[in-house]
Formats: sequence, C-alpha cells, structure tokens
Amino acid sequence: MPTTPRHFLVDTDLTPAEQSEVLDLAEMMKRQRYSFKPLAGPQTGIVMFDKTSTRTRISFAAGLTELGGNPLIINPGESQLGHKESIYDSAKVFERMVSVVIWRTYAQSGINELAENSAIPVVNALTDDYHPCQVLADLQTVREHRGSTQGLVMTYLGDAANNMANSYLLGGATAGMHVRIAGPEGYLPDEAIVAAAQARAQETGGSITVTTDASQALEAADVVVTDTWISMGQEDETEQRLKLFEAYSVDSEAIAQAADNAIFLHCLPAYREYEVSSEVIDGPQSRVFDEAENRLHAQKALIAWLLYASGLAEIPEELILPLAEASRGQVQ
Ligand code: CP
Repeated sequence: MPTTPRHFLVDTDLTPAEQSEVLDLAEMMKRQRYSFKPLAGPQTGIVMFDKTSTRTRISFAAGLTELGGNPLIINPGESQLGHKESIYDSAKVFERMVSVVIWRTYAQSGINELAENSAIPVVNALTDDYHPCQVLADLQTVREHRGSTQGLVMTYLGDAANNMANSYLLGGATAGMHVRIAGPEGYLPDEAIVAAAQARAQETGGSITVTTDASQALEAADVVVTDTWISMGQEDETEQRLKLFEAYSVDSEAIAQAADNAIFLHCLPAYREYEVSSEVIDGPQSRVFDEAENRLHAQKALIAWLLYASGLAEIPEELILPLAEASRGQVQ
C-alpha cells in the first residue's frame, strides 16, 4: 500500500478524473450520510484557523465526526505554530498524533511548507490565494442542479483577483467548464493562474475568458457566482472597493442576461445590495444554501479520498466498483 501523502492545497492538485471521483463520493456520502468511517478509532483531524469562519469550521467539525473521527479545532492564537514554533517542527509533531491537518491561513507558502514536511494529508481551508474546498462544494451543487459540469458556462463577477476567482478558474477548468471571469481593470486574475487554468481547460474541453465586460461574461451563462468585494484584511479599502465593483453586482438585470435556467451561487457570507441583490440571493435561481450544505459532503469525500489515495485507509468494498466506474467515465 503506498504511503506518500496526497494533499489538497490548490484546485489542480486533483486531476480531472480524481476531482470527478471525489464529487461522485460526495454524492454517495450525501445519500448515505453516516455509512463511511475511514477515521474510525476515533482518529483525530486538526482544523486550524488563523482567520474567522462559520461554514468551514462547522462543516469540518461535523464532517470529521461523521467519518468516525474526532475534530480538534484550533482557533486563532491558540497554537505555537507560526510564532513560537516553525512550520517544519509543527508538521513533524502533527503527523505523530493525528491523521489529517486542515488549515485556514494567510500565505499559500505556509501551507505548502506544511504539506512538504507532512506524512499525512494537508487540506487548504482557504488561503490568500485559493479556496479549493469551497469550489468542490460549488461543483457538487452544479452537478445536483444541472446533472453535470461538463461544457457549462460558469460566470464569476466582482473582485476577480481574489482567492475565489482563482479557485473558480482552476477548479472550473478541471471540471470541463467554460469559466468566464469579469472584474475591473487592476482586479483581474494573475496571468500565471490564468495560464494554468487554460492548460487544464485544454485537457478537459473547457475554456477560460477574462474580461472587464460584465454583460459579455453573463451572456447565456449556466451558473452565475460572486463573492464579497471586501475580503478578510481589506476592510481599510471598503469605500474605494464599493465604488470599483458596483458595475459587477449580481442584481435582477444581471441575472436576466444569463440562461433562463441559470443558478446563482455565493460562498457566503454575503453582503446583500452590494455584490448581490436580495432579490437574486433570496430568489428562485439561488442555490446558496444547498451550496453551503455541500461543504460538508464535499469535504468528507475529499478527506476520505485523500486517506484512500495516500494508503492511509482501506477503500470500503462497496466503493471500489462505483469509483472505478466514475474514473472510466471521465476525462483522464
Ligand atoms: N464560505 C466560507 O468559507 O465561509 P466561512 O468563512 O464562514 O468559513
């Protein structure tokens, strides 16, 4: 059995076939919520927060418990990591005691260093650069409401230089989607991330469009997404940002430009009447609470998959055939 740990630090850490397997597993885990126990023991999973959270904290705490494990939540300022103790030493201590480490932090370089030195899976629960667990939950929601992700148009409006835009580019391309990202000049995604997304889209039959034109991005879109205009740590820029992003608000006029059966997603928390109007987020096309619930199922599936792929848990017999079939049916 291999013992090289698999991590989930950025959306492209899963190949298209692997992402599809995780999403299949998430569907199974949603249907049979308490049937899979790869953390039986109970084994412990650490969930560390350097920033505040509601959904991420609750979904990982509930999810680790439902997988048969014991969640250990570490709030900002409660561990030695990063101020009194190096990332290397912390990684070596964690792997002696627990089975998985989940971390919400600032710099991507920090979580990359933790993973490089870890014998157990490390999961990104949001960094300044990516929020890949959120996008897995979004993709599960798209599959539920549209049957598949392949070939659908997903349009993101707003701060196009933030972690959500980056993860939509990479995760959406991995899922074979046509990802359109629209924001104002100066707030568009980094060229290296766009290039990585384009490379992934070439493998899957998806495509990438980056534009400042919200209407162009919205035309006939199947999925419309946005995020707060003021991410954690940007509060000093509030006044300037509210003006900058005004033209990218998802209101009734904007959603009317999308396909008639388009769905609206938002990772939450949402600021009504700013990045999204109440009419849209509380309206018939909104799937934001399905999306929030799917954090639980998608992350449970991800953790189980990482443990199986790392050789740290046996794949239950009843999953072997469905997962093999899922892999065969997807882009390799
Ligand atoms: N969407 C999301 O990550 O929510 P929290 O910040 O509340 O965890």
